[in-house]
Amino acid sequence: MTTRYADRMEGVKPSAIRQLLQYGADPNIISFGGGYPDASLFPASELQAIFTELLSGPGELSLQYTHSTGMPKLREQIAARMAADGVTTEQDNVLILQGSQQGLDLAARLLINPGDLVATEAPTFLGALIAFNPCQPEYLAIPMDEDGMMTEVLEQQLQAGRRIKLLYTVPDFHNPTGITLSLARRRHLIRLANQYDFIILEDSPYREVRYQGEKVATLKSMDSEGRVIYFGSFSKILAPGLRLGWSVASSEITEKLGLLKLAADTQCSTLNMAAVSLYLERHDLDAHIQVIKARYLAKKETMMSVLKSEFPADIRYTNPHGGLFTWLEFPESFDSEKFMLEYAVPQARVAWVPGATFFPTQQRKNFARFSYSTHSEEKTLQGMSALARLLKKHL
Ligand SMILES: Cc1ncc(COP(=O)(O)O)c(C=O)c1O
Repeated sequence: MTTRYADRMEGVKPSAIRQLLQYGADPNIISFGGGYPDASLFPASELQAIFTELLSGPGELSLQYTHSTGMPKLREQIAARMAADGVTTEQDNVLILQGSQQGLDLAARLLINPGDLVATEAPTFLGALIAFNPCQPEYLAIPMDEDGMMTEVLEQQLQAGRRIKLLYTVPDFHNPTGITLSLARRRHLIRLANQYDFIILEDSPYREVRYQGEKVATLKSMDSEGRVIYFGSFSKILAPGLRLGWSVASSEITEKLGLLKLAADTQCSTLNMAAVSLYLERHDLDAHIQVIKARYLAKKETMMSVLKSEFPADIRYTNPHGGLFTWLEFPESFDSEKFMLEYAVPQARVAWVPGATFFPTQQRKNFARFSYSTHSEEKTLQGMSALARLLKKHL
């Protein structure tokens, strides 16, 4: 039988990184590929006590269906956290999501018609492309420098008549580069959105994991026309297995996203929402985030120390002030995937995510994403030093 799939499946292909990430499961390989948080930082005993308590109580509170937009108490708690970060919002403008990944899927379905132009950073978060592709957009890839997306290039494109419907950005500790969008560029982006009438998806799951420097105001806090949809997540500050994130948007957009959420999965897990709400009530999440930040800073410094002192000088890398990733740029002719498969995995037993897959349009091969969050400092030193020795032989 020939199954006649919907046209949108044209854009749905298995990702090359699925196969590459299998190295993460091999104990003989030190993989810097997965963007997983350090599991030893999850507040497991606190969550265990909370889950036990919830499950010993009345079922309506933890095991029953609840509001599709999310548990009201948790929406209120999130609104308060957003307010503390400079985004004044009502509980009604907060929608609880199955991780921010679900927000990307819902926003795509809300806004993208086949052929619509969607602007993204180049490179960009692969999960966003995976969420957008079934809606069949065209992409406008905007290059980045050390201040993030080059909004002047975006402006040139807009002036030249490219009409974008939607712009997707990861402004804080961008995945995959670790770069943060500067304040001046944020202001510029908002001006462009207002002038050229497009929606901004501000996806910021790493925002609270800043361990150096001053935080930069969110795009949402500068949004006077209701055209920014902000996505936050508990994945990097509590635990990704809870699958809880949120959006903050205008009432109109929140309502429509809520309708799509109802169609997609009815609601997020009542038990998990109740648990996170109780965690926020009983424990000091900000104190927990301080612990996370101290660990990631130490881990980042370890990776940076090898990159600085042992790697060939013509390999450039970012030194992020937060988040989980650094982005390596090799000489133009270097193919980071080929080198990884032919040399790094068999000889140094080290893996990463080759950079090409993060580019929405022209895939560039001489980049790589390294995550410093998962391994101990000792393993990071071991893997990075082995790789440095191998690279010196080949470059
Ligand atoms: C930029 C970005 N957005 C969204 C997500 C999805 O996160 P969540 O676990 O909240 O769905 C990730 C996860 O790595 C990410 O890096």
